[in-house]
Amino acid sequence: GGAGVRVGIHDLAVATGHHVLDLDDLAARNGVDPAKYHVGLGQDAFSMPAADEDIVTMGAAAALPLIERHGTDGIRTVLFATESGVDQSKSAAVVAHGLLGLPSTARAVELKQACYGGTAALVAALGIVARDPRERVLVIASDVARYDLDSAAEPTQGAGAVAFLVAADPDLIEIEPASGLFSADVDDFWRPNDRSTALVDGRLSVTAYVDALLGSWDDLAERGGIAPADIDRWLHHQPFTKMALKAHRAWSKHVGAEFDETELATGFTYNRRTGNSYTASVFLALAALLDLDDDLEGRRLALFSYGSGSVGELLTGIVKPGYRALRRAGQVAGLLDARVPISVDDYRELHAATTTTSEARQNPEVTTGPFRFVGVEAGARRYARTG
Ligand code: HMG
Repeated sequence: GGAGVRVGIHDLAVATGHHVLDLDDLAARNGVDPAKYHVGLGQDAFSMPAADEDIVTMGAAAALPLIERHGTDGIRTVLFATESGVDQSKSAAVVAHGLLGLPSTARAVELKQACYGGTAALVAALGIVARDPRERVLVIASDVARYDLDSAAEPTQGAGAVAFLVAADPDLIEIEPASGLFSADVDDFWRPNDRSTALVDGRLSVTAYVDALLGSWDDLAERGGIAPADIDRWLHHQPFTKMALKAHRAWSKHVGAEFDETELATGFTYNRRTGNSYTASVFLALAALLDLDDDLEGRRLALFSYGSGSVGELLTGIVKPGYRALRRAGQVAGLLDARVPISVDDYRELHAATTTTSEARQNPEVTTGPFRFVGVEAGARRYARTG
């Protein structure tokens, strides 16, 4: 039984795509004032995977440093959250498990509910560890946000992965047991099986997101006895960072609490540069806060996850003393700075070429990450460790 076991996030690491598109370039191409993207959406750039990268290579790249730092001891579960799945049957988790050299005594599963999948994986992991605190769960959230070229959603594309270890007596954040939930069947954003880009009702998605935050808050306030003043820092899913700001304004009106808008900015730092990373987005916000905020010891964080369709969940966690020793701001900044700029023409070509196909192909060698998507052979995707 897990009663009384303290469980949470023990360590986490980040990866992203090889390329970066500067939104100034996209604004110029689209004849739009760049301020619409920088201020109106709160985005500066987005990451884009190279032809030999996908959710598997990004996800395994995010997880690799965790395995290097902590080894594989205790890992008996790998959960891979994504809505950019590359196979309808075989999970990306089992491929990542192989690339990372994890022991055969581990289960591997993929989870999906739009951007909420990463939080679904976290909650499942908390339960697994509470059941047997000797176990650790490797959670990988990895996505590529793709919309049609020339659509309103185009500047909100992006790519990224976050991996984290869930363990008993965690070094980073202890997740509290109560959470707030809100599910509603709504067609605000979805991706039918015959499409490689999402369909979206942008206006509806914004109100559905806000409804989910308010509903999740009300549920948590009731179940967890939480009041607005009990939360020290807020982290929200960030399809574009302005969305988090809009939703938080609605929340502050809903509960009658004042808030200083600059307080959310630290959590926006990485997402402004990667764009939407769907399942990874709220954890990328968490990575930024842990890396860049010096005053988090003992503080209560609220993590709001929203997945279109829709499911919202609001979790809270307490930052552990000593978290500063685990910060890796330089490493993440280095990763973001090292991306190779792509021109709008090349981006459009790469975007059009991206399909999930079982036809034989050999990918060009582009990525400088630790894993690459080599190509398709006899219908199966082949991956390899680089270097
Ligand atoms: P749009 O056509 O760009 O909307 O589409 P807009 O014309 O209303 O402009 C956006 C903002 O820019 C507005 O600010 C304008 O005022 C401002 P707001 O009034 O909203 O605060 N603006 C300017 N600001 C400064 N200088 C200027 C200027 N011009 C205009 N010159 C939309 C926006 C979000 C609809 C579109 O980008 C979209 O469809 N995106 C994709 C959907 C999305 O991300 N939805 C978010 C909620 S759903 C979600 O989070 C789930 C998701 O991650 C998927 C999943 O769960 O898997 C998407």
